[in-house]
Amino acid sequence: MLTHRHLLGLEGYPREDLETIISTAFNFREILDRPIKKVPSLQGKTIVNLFFENSTRTRISFELAQKRLSADTVNFSASTSSLKKGESFKDTAQNIEAMKIDAVVMRHPDPGAPGLLTRYIDAIVINAGDGTHEHPTQAILDMMSLKEKFGYLEGLKVGILGDISHSRVALSNIYGLITMGAEVQVCGPPTLIPPFLEELGVQVTYDADGLLDWADAVNVLRIQMERMGVGLFPSIREYRSRFGITVERLSRIKKEVVIMHPGPMNRGTEIDSVVADGDQAIILDQVLNGVASRMAILFLLLGGQPVN
Ligand code: CP
Repeated sequence: MLTHRHLLGLEGYPREDLETIISTAFNFREILDRPIKKVPSLQGKTIVNLFFENSTRTRISFELAQKRLSADTVNFSASTSSLKKGESFKDTAQNIEAMKIDAVVMRHPDPGAPGLLTRYIDAIVINAGDGTHEHPTQAILDMMSLKEKFGYLEGLKVGILGDISHSRVALSNIYGLITMGAEVQVCGPPTLIPPFLEELGVQVTYDADGLLDWADAVNVLRIQMERMGVGLFPSIREYRSRFGITVERLSRIKKEVVIMHPGPMNRGTEIDSVVADGDQAIILDQVLNGVASRMAILFLLLGGQPVN
């Protein structure tokens, strides 16, 4: 039903496939509102969640999506595996596949690791975030949340604010939103914006107030200290003052802007608590739509049975 067998990233991913995933996700979203949130679509399928890096939302969301679709799920955590005894990534993957599985959902700190996995195993591979490269399922749930809020993506003005350089969420959102016809502007300190971005069809600004004036919605990103070798901006205090989504900054904007955040949030750094918990934010809608989006992706890639 989708053009590609795996979901490794949104670079070059067809618009028709994104539309199919998002419309299927809205169908599954209705199931999540039912008293019994479970359908037999993936009964008999076995999915392994292979996480080599920490996660709260993505991991739980995939596991819930698999359970809601009646698939059998197994969770693998690198920190408690035989990787700690020196077993290689390839041996780990091939041993797991030997146990007859249908799909692997993988998060890994190295860009390209899910693509490498497709060379070692026959099972379907879904990228749950690979280093600073891509996080395609996050971008799909973000696009679903925008579609839910505005009713359209074509021509929508979406800002992405923060640490763009280290953000797989930013890159997947840029690829997906541009494909869907949205306008994208990125904003952050010059040291946290890579030079090639304008080639992808996005505008670059260093003015957070200007971004908020322009955008219908702004996706606020975390400063990824763990991926920075050296400090790339003077201080958290200065970052917050120039780029933080503060109550004071939002009060200067003459119109309503929808605020998004993929999580995890650093409250008081890139976003104020009052904003994150306020009416303009759709952050928890994004989380719920993450389950519906991942149900749709698993259903479409694993050839699930239609649901009523
Ligand atoms: N948004 C996101 O990927 O969050 P986790 O790291 O908690 O999965």
